[in-house]
Amino acid sequence: MAEGAVVVLRNIIPLGDGDRVSMTPALWATVFVAAVIGYRIMLLLRPGRWREWKKFPRGPPGRPLVGNWDVFFSGSPRQKLMELAKQYGNGDIVGLRMGFRPVVCVCSSMLAKELLHTHDKIFANRPRYDFCQTLFYGYDSAVIFSRYSSHLIRLRKLFTLQLFTPKRLSDLQFIRQEEMRKVISALHRTQTPRLAHKVEKIVSDMACNITVRLLQSRAFEQDKCSELNDLVRKLEHSSIPVLGDFIPWMKWLYFSKRARERRIHKEFEDVIDKMILDRHQLLRRCPPEEVPTDFLQVLLSKEGDENPDELLTIEEIKAVILDIFAGGLHTSSATVEWAMSELMSNPRVMEKLRAEIDNVKGLEDKSTLVTDEDVGRMPYLEKVIREVFRLHPVVPLLVPRLSTQEVEIAGGEYSLPQGTIAYVNAWALGREERTWGPRVSEFWPERFQEQCLDVKGQHFELLPFGSGRRMCPGMRLGLAIVHFTVANFVRFFEWQLPHGRSITELSESVGRGNSPSTSLHAIPIPRRE
Ligand code: HEM
Ligand SMILES: *[C@@H]1O[C@H](CO)[C@@H](O)[C@H](O)[C@H]1NC(C)=O
Repeated sequence: MAEGAVVVLRNIIPLGDGDRVSMTPALWATVFVAAVIGYRIMLLLRPGRWREWKKFPRGPPGRPLVGNWDVFFSGSPRQKLMELAKQYGNGDIVGLRMGFRPVVCVCSSMLAKELLHTHDKIFANRPRYDFCQTLFYGYDSAVIFSRYSSHLIRLRKLFTLQLFTPKRLSDLQFIRQEEMRKVISALHRTQTPRLAHKVEKIVSDMACNITVRLLQSRAFEQDKCSELNDLVRKLEHSSIPVLGDFIPWMKWLYFSKRARERRIHKEFEDVIDKMILDRHQLLRRCPPEEVPTDFLQVLLSKEGDENPDELLTIEEIKAVILDIFAGGLHTSSATVEWAMSELMSNPRVMEKLRAEIDNVKGLEDKSTLVTDEDVGRMPYLEKVIREVFRLHPVVPLLVPRLSTQEVEIAGGEYSLPQGTIAYVNAWALGREERTWGPRVSEFWPERFQEQCLDVKGQHFELLPFGSGRRMCPGMRLGLAIVHFTVANFVRFFEWQLPHGRSITELSESVGRGNSPSTSLHAIPIPRRE
């Protein structure tokens, strides 16, 4: 019946490229009738009456139809979810409903471990959202928002065993160094008059330059990276589920959103196609030994692989490249932004860190960059960055998982039906008093002297990269960029706030992501001693 309504709708609205639909009374009536009919049908067809299950975690009552939609789309979901878990589930877990879907959010390290370790396999899937089909390359071909399958396992292996190996990252360290040099000289050049810079923008442009060079060995032209960054931002803003993802008959309401997503996808595809085309031309011109063995080459070499287990189609290669852009640029830059703002608001920590860096690098030759090897000799830097990840995990609710079978957790206290969407609240884990003691909200890197917890997915108290089968495969690169950038920023500049600004303006933004609400503007003043 809803389909009949779609046909009506097509006839009323010219499906042009305008994003806005003018809602005539006739259209409203159609929508309303369809909604009522659809609702009745869904009540009848509702999959398994899980609401009646006694052991589903408790949570606030939902609204009719939409359920607890408001929790995720108002204010700060991570904080709200933490409060609800305290109220309804002993601080461990809260049970919700979106449309007809059971949803849980885990807020304690104990249950995070059960989900991501004990029952990792059951929760290895991702929910299927429609934007994955339009924005990305579909639920079955890429990584971030795709199904858990043998194909995904292969792609993940490609990341960890071929692209982001420690050896490759250290061989390609010179790329990061050259890009850092460019940034440092650019900041030196803008000294008169002293300008405030948007820290996140400097770093995300640099991260983009680095990523592009890792991929294709060659930088983009001048401003292409800023454009690409804007595009990634658009991608992020569109990568959110809508009601139609949970209530199937509402899907058709989103056709203009879907059209916009296709346009964003097309823009990415153009960039990626160009990279591949250039490489094919290069391959035709040059003898094979002169072609660089960069990420692009590793990926393209799979195109004609004789081993069917290694073979990738060109679509799949593009999907991987898109995921590298989607997953890698703003996570690193937002973390650096948080690190710099915490350091600027905690001068004691900044000074201690600077002393460590100067100590390792020596003060004679002031122009040499801090390298990865130096970073390995900076234990305080390591603690500072862990503390940043504890307070400001930039993917605060990780990426949601989907259960493939019914499962009992917390020693049988709760039971989650098949098809439960599970969020792990990494932000709340960093604020659990059970782990961190009473001074949870204080920025205090020294806490890691006693607490030997790291961020690599083995300690469920601190999960900025997630854990288990869907853990971030780009962690090594992400960590390398963050450490290296912060160390060099602190080595080369004193950072000041522009006149009249205070750091307290930087509270957490509302919404899904976790960048500061107002971006950090700071004036880099070259150090001279
Ligand atoms: C500071 C930097 C970064 C942070 C904090 C971060 C965080 C995360 C988190 C929390 C997840 C979800 C994990 C889960 O579901 O358990 C994830 C997934 C992912 N990240 Fe990262 N990430 C970072 C950098 C990168 C980089 C540099 C890349 C690639 C170039 C990358 C690529 C991916 C991909 C492809 C996935 C999807 C994995 C899957 O679904 O199997 N990330 N990341
Ligand atoms: C990125 O690389 C381009 C080309 O070399 C350069 O013009 C631009 O300034 C770089 N961006 C940053 C932030 O270093």
